Amino acid sequence: MAEPSPQDKVARLASGYWHTQAIYVAAKLGIADALSEGPMSADELASSTRTNPRALYRLLRALASIGIFAEDEQHWFALTPMADCLRSGVPGSVRSLAIMRGEWQYEAWGQLLHSVRTGQCAFEKVYGEPLFDHLAAHPDKGRLFDEAMTGVHGRETAAMLDAHDFSGIGILADVGGGNGEVIFSILEQYPEMRGVLFDRPAVAERATANLKATGFVGRCVVTAGDFFVSVPPGADAYLLRHIIHDWDDEKSVAILRNCRAAMGKQGKLLVVEGIVPPGNEPSVSKFFDLAMMVLPGGMERTESEYRRLFEASGFSLTRIVPTTTWVSVIEGEPR
Ligand SMILES: C[S@@+](CC[C@H](N)C(=O)[O-])C[C@H]1O[C@@H](n2cnc3c(N)ncnc32)[C@H](O)[C@@H]1O
Repeated sequence: MAEPSPQDKVARLASGYWHTQAIYVAAKLGIADALSEGPMSADELASSTRTNPRALYRLLRALASIGIFAEDEQHWFALTPMADCLRSGVPGSVRSLAIMRGEWQYEAWGQLLHSVRTGQCAFEKVYGEPLFDHLAAHPDKGRLFDEAMTGVHGRETAAMLDAHDFSGIGILADVGGGNGEVIFSILEQYPEMRGVLFDRPAVAERATANLKATGFVGRCVVTAGDFFVSVPPGADAYLLRHIIHDWDDEKSVAILRNCRAAMGKQGKLLVVEGIVPPGNEPSVSKFFDLAMMVLPGGMERTESEYRRLFEASGFSLTRIVPTTTWVSVIEGEPR
């Protein structure tokens, strides 16, 4: 096939929300879960999902054309490797991510123009309150967000563990640790280590339930609080994965200063984020940066921006450890 023209490429990219919404609807309806026992016709699926059979058939046919579901000659649909990731509760599931992207995040992205015109957060224009307050006030969305973090960032955990040596850390505090996937994975690999998961109260409550389902109850505590007030003292290292990118410089410095105040002179700071590369280099960090502008009102940063942020918070940036994913471990020590 001929190389697509610039017009074709832009037209395809500009239609990206077709995919967002089609995947969202299949995820929301639980089509992949319904197919986990074997292929089904669109009619059967429509009756179990209370949808219109012809409309559902058209949705699944479109998704099958991009590798999500496969249609056979009898017009029955089956799972494919991509459709399998839309099942709930399976390792690597992206179902919650697909619902979150297509539902409330989609509404906020609809106001990107507002963010670009004003520099303000689109989410707050649409929902009238900051993202994390909204998630606390709407537990269904909060639960979905916690689950979706593993779909969005879960693949980074193994890459971080491969790239970065955590040995020698007796107690690791995971600040804004969310659903616990990160700290539980680290504790699994380092049997001598103990962990502290710190997050907002509603998130901490859900993380406590997750902790109980693991074998780490004796080695990990979950603590609720607000990192703008303080973080738990006395850990040897403070890990913040995708925390700093949620906030502007002033708020980021406030969080990092609280980590500095909580740790001793030998403490270690481990910020896990993407680093925006210079120039036109393609990098997912450049679109995550827009997501941060639209949703929490934060930003992705360049290496020199992280260096300045660390210095303003009482840390020296000592090392940047890249991983095979878009994130790096940015290490700091007290100055
Ligand atoms: C983008 S998520 C990252 C979660 C987790 N670190 C990960 O990498 O999957 C940001 C986390 O910061 C938490 N958070 C937001 N505001 C907070 C606050 N004021 N105090 C403590 N945690 C907060 C959120 O509840 C959420 O779990």
